Amino acid sequence: MSDLIDSLTRAVEASPQDLPLRLHLAQMLVDAGRGDQAVTHCATVLQQDPGNSTARDLMTRALGGPPQASAAPQAAAPPAPSAQPAPPSPAPPPPTGATDPTETGDHDGFDWSAAEGQLGDVSPRPMFVDGDPHASEVAAHDLERPGITLADVGGMQEVKARLDAAFLAPLRNPELRRAYGKSLKGGILLYGPPGCGKTFVGRALAGELGAGFVNVGISDVLDMYTGRSERNITEVFEFARSHAPTVIFLDELDAIGAKRATMHNSGMRTVVNQLLMEMDGVEADNEGVFVVGATNQPWDVDPALRRPGRLDRTLFVSPPDEEARAAIFRHHLADRPVEGIDVAWLARKSAGLSGADIAHVCETATEFALMEGARSGTMRYIGMADLKRSLGEVRPSTGPWFTSAKNVVEFANVDGAYDELRDWMRRNKVR
Ligand SMILES: Nc1ncnc2c1ncn2[C@@H]1O[C@H](COP(=O)(O)OP(=O)(O)OP(=O)(O)O)[C@@H](O)[C@H]1O
Ligand SMILES: [Mg+2]
Repeated sequence: MSDLIDSLTRAVEASPQDLPLRLHLAQMLVDAGRGDQAVTHCATVLQQDPGNSTARDLMTRALGGPPQASAAPQAAAPPAPSAQPAPPSPAPPPPTGATDPTETGDHDGFDWSAAEGQLGDVSPRPMFVDGDPHASEVAAHDLERPGITLADVGGMQEVKARLDAAFLAPLRNPELRRAYGKSLKGGILLYGPPGCGKTFVGRALAGELGAGFVNVGISDVLDMYTGRSERNITEVFEFARSHAPTVIFLDELDAIGAKRATMHNSGMRTVVNQLLMEMDGVEADNEGVFVVGATNQPWDVDPALRRPGRLDRTLFVSPPDEEARAAIFRHHLADRPVEGIDVAWLARKSAGLSGADIAHVCETATEFALMEGARSGTMRYIGMADLKRSLGEVRPSTGPWFTSAKNVVEFANVDGAYDELRDWMRRNKVR
């Protein structure tokens, strides 16, 4: 099956305009359970032939929904209601006055008058304000405009291809966005060992989408006072909505789990619920707000956050491959006084190092050159001898991470959530 898919993929690459061939490939991918890859092909077909009902059906299946009535794109089937899990109770009273979207299960037939009835005497906040009277230190978060795109991410072809299939290709196609607006939203969870480029990839993704970047450390948002964490989360989302298009980058998502031990369990429950509500809001009416989560410990991330429509696509951000290491060396040496640097050699000899480790190697080499210059009284350029020496001293920092990852892959990979990680570890002989 996978041989056939490979040959078909090559055939499609050779004749990209052959739509029936592409659909055939998409069909095989869906049948093989590789829906995320089929999405790109369906998107390409629909871009050229928006009314193509086979492509629409396949797209729905690729996204995990039931086949839809083909002639009516507006009636695009949302994911089955069962894909919307019931919220863990008790849910906090929503501060914006909206009903908990997780309770309705389906936004399409939303009953506004019933919702208003449920609001009771909660007085809604003003819809529009001049300035934000509730601005807090979190809402005052910086809106970055990343000057980088995925083209600046060196190497990591696999990561980029997966990002494209799972996130960017469907978003780029306006027709698809209309038809599948709901199921194409939701976010992506980046995971991997520390210092290997999760934040960097998140920024590049925002740059790629032409969106602003709101970097949120979850531990900064969590507050020991009741209700304060929930409010911080709401403020972050409100800030992002008012500056859309934006990527909200939720860093250290596992911190919610880690904090649970030191706080009241129920307190953290409402934080998770608040986050779910805001994210479901992203699905319903927050055009242009994209949520990207990041964590070093995906196994500690609350499973509710990973259900369909939330951070339902996971992406392993591996330690940099050779091409990526070359790019990272180049980046860190670009503004230093260097001479005769053989970047290809350095990239070859630094397997296993993270991006942060490579930054450290370059730092250390600089210190060697500086110290020697200070001793001898004549400054000199940083050369290969300095880099070779520091490369010999810096140890990969990802070791302990892979030790825990190994256990998870062996004993806790029940639903195949970590297949990508497992395959990478096998290919790279990480034991
Ligand atoms: N493919 C790449 N191309 C160029 N630079 C990269 C690449 N991958 C990582 N880097 C660089 O590596 C460094 C570490 O990356 P980053 O901070 O994004 O890692 P992280 O996974 O978010 O780490 P942490 O888990 O500590 O938050 C950054 O300086 C980044 O610029
Ligand atoms: Mg980071």
